Amino acid sequence: MESKRNSFTGKLGFVLAAAGSAVGLGNIWRFPYLAAKYGGGMFLLVYIILSLTFGFSLMVAEIAIGRKTRLSAIGAYEKLDRRFGFIGIMASIVPAIILPYYSVIGGWVTKYIAGFVTGEMEAMASADYFGGYIGEAVEPIVWFGIFLAITAVVVMLGVEKGIEKVSKIMMPVLIGLILFIVIYTLCTLEGAWDGVVYYLKPDFSKFSIMTVVAAMGQLFYSMSLAMGIMITFGSYMKKDISISKSAHQIELFDTGIAILAGLMIIPAVFAFSGGDESALGQGPGLMFVTLPQIFETMPGGAVLGAIFFIMVFFAALTSAISLMETVVSIIKDKTGLGRIPCCLIVIGICIALGLPSSLGYSIWSEVKILGMQLLDFFDFASNSVLMPLVALLTCFFVGFVLKPKAIMDEVELSERFKQKGLFSVMIRYIAPICLVAILASSILGAFGVISI
Ligand code: PHE
Repeated sequence: MESKRNSFTGKLGFVLAAAGSAVGLGNIWRFPYLAAKYGGGMFLLVYIILSLTFGFSLMVAEIAIGRKTRLSAIGAYEKLDRRFGFIGIMASIVPAIILPYYSVIGGWVTKYIAGFVTGEMEAMASADYFGGYIGEAVEPIVWFGIFLAITAVVVMLGVEKGIEKVSKIMMPVLIGLILFIVIYTLCTLEGAWDGVVYYLKPDFSKFSIMTVVAAMGQLFYSMSLAMGIMITFGSYMKKDISISKSAHQIELFDTGIAILAGLMIIPAVFAFSGGDESALGQGPGLMFVTLPQIFETMPGGAVLGAIFFIMVFFAALTSAISLMETVVSIIKDKTGLGRIPCCLIVIGICIALGLPSSLGYSIWSEVKILGMQLLDFFDFASNSVLMPLVALLTCFFVGFVLKPKAIMDEVELSERFKQKGLFSVMIRYIAPICLVAILASSILGAFGVISI
């Protein structure tokens, strides 16, 4: 009996830890604004298809690579084939690019907690509050600093486990609150149901290559793929735990929360804009503009708003911790420096890239790279270029160098791998073709060669 219970805890432990890292701002902030912008139901459909086929295959491959080698990304690729160690290095650059701007957005979330607590809800609910706030030079930087400092203190003191425990308790509260807001919006706000139709019913005329580019980038981001993270998780996984089941569960959990978050925000956008579809294209500010508007109409909205943003804060904090942890351990392995100096280097990187990301909305709004605001540029460089590239190289490596059989054998140590056929065809042919198309269109689009 005893051993059975232990192995059950082990299984659940793996999935919960991986899901805890996967669920973050990607689900609650990024997914809804992309879904709103890139065709609602069409985006959702493309995302779900990609997640079940491509996302699943890549996640299985990454977890298996980690479990087979018992190493994290850089070492893992090197161990499997010396010539391909560079894929691990490229994958490791991704978290270093994401963390700085992730902390800027974490700062926005922190500011919103303060706003609800200090009774600013009414002001926050006005449509131009958010734009005005990020348009200030100093304040967003202060909140970015606070978020970064909290993340860094947790990593430096090595108290991640405690925070993860707290966040596991918070996760059900967050899900409950999202559900409550969805029901509240649909029952009380006029026009919200039009948003449900927009969000859930695919409109094929809204399909464009950008729908696929955005959905694929979001898939990597949200499931923490193509950045070495799942390899690290795999390296700690016991040999008797099912890789494919775990991948399905993480995927289901992560996608489920993202879909719910979309349902919380998009119908409300319709209700508050009176059905004006241009309100859907707002981009990164969507959640920050829409949620205070919902809370303002609610009895006790200020308290609920504060609690909601505290939950989002914890989801963001655990993700930021795992991002920082990853970068710190890479620098530690490569340089042999101690933990604290490595943390200081990472903080330096965050300040160097985070400050411009924040200022890009205020005094540096004229500074553009390839026509993009600085935060957008870092988001683009990691999600639309580097991650698809790492994914493409991983598919090539697994499909033709290592061979899919090596991964299947690893998976079959603990189970009969039912989706072998899908996995092999996906990794060798379908995924690489899609990835090349995506890379080409996002790069050509960024340089203005094609319009996307
Ligand atoms: N997947 C996280 C999110 O959705 C972001 C993240 C990426 C966290 C990589 C940790 C590691 O917000």
